[in-house]
Amino acid sequence: MNLENLPRVTLANLPTPVQELPRLSRTLGRSIWIKRDDLTGLALGGNKTRKLELLCADALKRKADTLITGGAPQSNHCRQTAAAAAKLGLRCLLVLSGRSQPTDTGNLLIDSLVGAELVWADDKPLDQAMQETFDRERSEERNPYLIPYGGSNPLGAAAYALAMLELKSQKVNPDWIIFPSSSAGTQTGLILGAELFQLPGHIYGVSVDLEARPLREKISALLAETVRTFGGTESFLSESILIDDRFLGGGYGKVGMLEREAIHLFAREEGILLDPVYTGRAAGGMLEMIRRNEIPSTETVLFWHTGGIPAIWAYAKEIL
Ligand SMILES: Cc1ncc(COP(=O)(O)O)c(C=O)c1O
Repeated sequence: MNLENLPRVTLANLPTPVQELPRLSRTLGRSIWIKRDDLTGLALGGNKTRKLELLCADALKRKADTLITGGAPQSNHCRQTAAAAAKLGLRCLLVLSGRSQPTDTGNLLIDSLVGAELVWADDKPLDQAMQETFDRERSEERNPYLIPYGGSNPLGAAAYALAMLELKSQKVNPDWIIFPSSSAGTQTGLILGAELFQLPGHIYGVSVDLEARPLREKISALLAETVRTFGGTESFLSESILIDDRFLGGGYGKVGMLEREAIHLFAREEGILLDPVYTGRAAGGMLEMIRRNEIPSTETVLFWHTGGIPAIWAYAKEIL
C-alpha cells in the first residue's frame, strides 16, 4: 500500500518535534518522550490538522466550496476544520451538538474568529443534523464537502499512518506510544503506520469516551476500510488493538483528579500544556500505569500529544 503519494495541502508545520522530557522522566523513573502534534500550528494546532491535509486536498479535487463537519461545542476538530477552510478560502459550517452557547471562550471563540457559521443540532442526533445541513447546502446549489466526525475516515487514518513514517525518520523507537483515542482515526492510522513502516512498540490508546469494545470495533472496521480503500493486503486481529478504558471517570469531558494531576504535572515539570478532555486524560492514564508498574522501568514511553489546548480556557474552573 502506498500512502506517500496521496494528494495533500500544506496546513501543518511538519515534522512536529519529538522531545525527551528529562524532568518528568526523572520524576516517573522512566524514559518519557513526547511527540508534539499540539504544535502542528493551524489556529493553535492539534492532531486533526494532519488529517485535514489529506481531507482538504480531496475537497479541493472535488471543487468543493464549503466544508461541513460536526462535533461537541468545544470540538478541536471543528476548530481546526474551520481554520483550514479559512486558509483555503472555503466556507465552513460547523454542526455542534446541543443548544446554542456563548462563543466567547475556548474553541468556540476561534471558530467565530476564523469565520465559521455555527449550526446547533438542538435535540437532533449529530449525524442527522450534519446530513441535513449537507442536503440543505446542496439544494442551494452549493458544492459542500462533508468531513465525518473527528475526520475519521480512510483519508484521516492515512494521515496518521504517515505520521508514523515521520516518527521513524526522527529515529525514536519507543516501546510504548500512548495517546488519547476517540473517533478511531488516530489509532487506526498509528496501527496501520506501525505495520507499514515497521515500528514495533505498543500502540496504546487511552479511550476518552467509549468503552473498549465499541471503540475496538470502530477501529477494526476503519482499519479494514482503509486497507480496502488504498489497495493494501494487510490484515489486523481486533484482539491486538490495545485500548484502555479504565480512565473514563465521569464520562466524556468530565474533568477529575486524574486529568487535573496530569495537567499540573506536565505544566510544572516541563512547561507543556495538556488539554482537559483528551491529553489530560491520556496522560493521567499513563501516570497511573507507571504507578502500578504496568510499564516496566526499562521501557521507553512516547506520549503522543494530540493538542486540544484552547479548551483549557473553557475548563479553567475545573482544571485549577
Ligand atoms: C486533542 C485531541 N486529542 C485526541 C483526539 C482523538 O482523536 P481521534 O478522534 O482520531 O481518536 C481528539 C479528537 O477530537 C482531540 O481533539
